[in-house]
Amino acid sequence: MSLESPVLEIDPLLDDPKTRIIVCCGSGGVGKTTTAASLGVRAAERGRTAVVLTIDPARRLAQSMGLTELDNTPREVAGIDRSAGGSLHAMMLDMKRTFDEVVVQHSDQERARAILENPFYQSLSAGFAGTQEYMAMEKLGQLRAQDAWDLIIVDTPPSRSALDFLDAPKRLGSFLDGKFIKLLMAPAKVGGRAGVKFLNIGMSMMTGTLSKVMGAGLLRDVQTFVAAMDTMFGGFRTRADATYRLLQAPGTAFLVVAAPERDALREAAYFVERLAAEDMPLAGLVLNRVHGSGAAHLTAERALAAAEALEEALEENLADGGIVDHPAGKADSQRASASSSASTAGSSSAGSSSASGSGTSSTASTSSTATAAGTERLAAGLLRLHAERMQVVARERRTRDRFVSVHPEVPMVDVTALPGDVHDLTGLRAIGEQLADGRPAAA
Ligand SMILES: Nc1ncnc2c1ncn2[C@@H]1O[C@H](COP(=O)(O)OP(=O)(O)OP(=O)(O)O)[C@@H](O)[C@H]1O
Ligand SMILES: [Mg+2]
Repeated sequence: MSLESPVLEIDPLLDDPKTRIIVCCGSGGVGKTTTAASLGVRAAERGRTAVVLTIDPARRLAQSMGLTELDNTPREVAGIDRSAGGSLHAMMLDMKRTFDEVVVQHSDQERARAILENPFYQSLSAGFAGTQEYMAMEKLGQLRAQDAWDLIIVDTPPSRSALDFLDAPKRLGSFLDGKFIKLLMAPAKVGGRAGVKFLNIGMSMMTGTLSKVMGAGLLRDVQTFVAAMDTMFGGFRTRADATYRLLQAPGTAFLVVAAPERDALREAAYFVERLAAEDMPLAGLVLNRVHGSGAAHLTAERALAAAEALEEALEENLADGGIVDHPAGKADSQRASASSSASTAGSSSAGSSSASGSGTSSTASTSSTATAAGTERLAAGLLRLHAERMQVVARERRTRDRFVSVHPEVPMVDVTALPGDVHDLTGLRAIGEQLADGRPAAA
C-alpha cells in the first residue's frame, strides 16, 4: 500500500493575500518554469495581481506569454481572464542586464561606466557560476521593492542542483570577501597561476613581468576593475542579505518541484532539509510528470499474462499452417480459409470477442480471420504497453513512498505527464487545474 502524505492545497495558497512570494525550485528540467508559469496564470485568473519572473523559458512558452523581448521588465500577458479582477505580468530574467543595473545603482556615473566597459566585468557578469542565481534573487528584491504586484512567482535557474539557488548569495559573499580575484583571473585565463601569485606578492614587483605576459592594457583593466568593485562590496552584500531575509519572511512559500525519479526526489529531500535549516517556509512538493493509467485496475501481471495467452494462440495457429503474416484481405485464401475455424477458436479462448462467429462465405471468412489475427496482435501489443506503463506507475510509487517515509510531513501534489510539452495558456491552465486538484495521479 502506498504511503499517504498531506495534500498540497494550491488554491488556498494562491488566494491568501498574505502569500506574497512563491519560489519554484528543483533540479534541472523537472518543470520549474512550467509550474511557475501555470501558478501565475491560475493566480491571476483567481484575482491576484501577479507577476512571474521566468528564467530561460522554452521559446514557444515564452512566445505564448508574450515574452518576445528580453528587456528585463515585466510585461502584461495577453489572454488572461481578468474577470476576477486579477492580472498577470511576466518577464524573463536578463542576467547581464540585471548585473549592470546593480552596478549603476551602486556607483557614481564615471565608476559605473569604467566597470561596465571593463572586459573582466563583462566576462564575470555573463558567466560566473552562481551569477544567474544571484541575479534572480536580485531581481526578486527589485520586483518586491516596486510593490506593483501582490504576488511574485519566481522561477529558478536551470541548475544541476536545487541547492545552487540558496548557495548563490553565500558564494557571492566569498567572492566579495577577496577570493574573487582568483575567480576573476580564472575565466579570463590571464596569467593563470602567475596572476594569482602576483596579487599575493604585491603589484610592483611583478608588474613588469605581467605587463609582458598580459599586455599593459589588460593589466590596467584588472586593476581598475578590482578598485572599482572594491567600493561596491558593501552594496552587494547588503542586498544579498536583504533578499535572503525576504526568502525567510512569512509571506514567502517555497515549492519544490521534482520528477518521480530517484535522483530528483533525493535532491528534493535535501532541499526540504536545507529549507528547514535556513528557516525558509516550505509550502510543499509538486511531483511533476507522474504517470497514471485510465485502466489501473488491470495489473501489469494480468496484462502480461493476457498478452502471452494471445500470442501463444496466434503462434499455435501459425504452427497449424494457419494465419500467415499477410495484411487483411490479401492472405493466401486457400490456406487461410482452411484454418479459419482453428483461428477463431484460438481467439475466443484468449478472451477476444472480435470476429468470432463471422464469415459465412469463404472470402469473408478469410478476410475476417486475417483481421482477427491482426486485432489480436494489436491487442497483445497494447496489453504489453499497458503492462510497461503499470510498471512505471509502480516504480514511481515506490520512489515517492521512499520520499514520504523520510518526509511524511511534506504536503504533496501530483501533476501528470501531458502528452505534449506545455507551451500555451491552455496547457498552463491544464497544469494549474492539476496543481489545484490535489488528487494522486494514478488513482
Ligand atoms: N506535466 C508535464 N507534462 C508534459 N510536459 C511537461 C510537463 N511539465 C513540464 N513539461 C515540459 O518539460 C520541459 C521542461 O520543463 P521546464 O522548462 O518547466 O523545466 P525546468 O525545471 O524549468 O527546466 P530547467 O531546469 O532547464 O529550467 C518543457 O518542454 C515542458 O513543456
Ligand atoms: Mg526552467
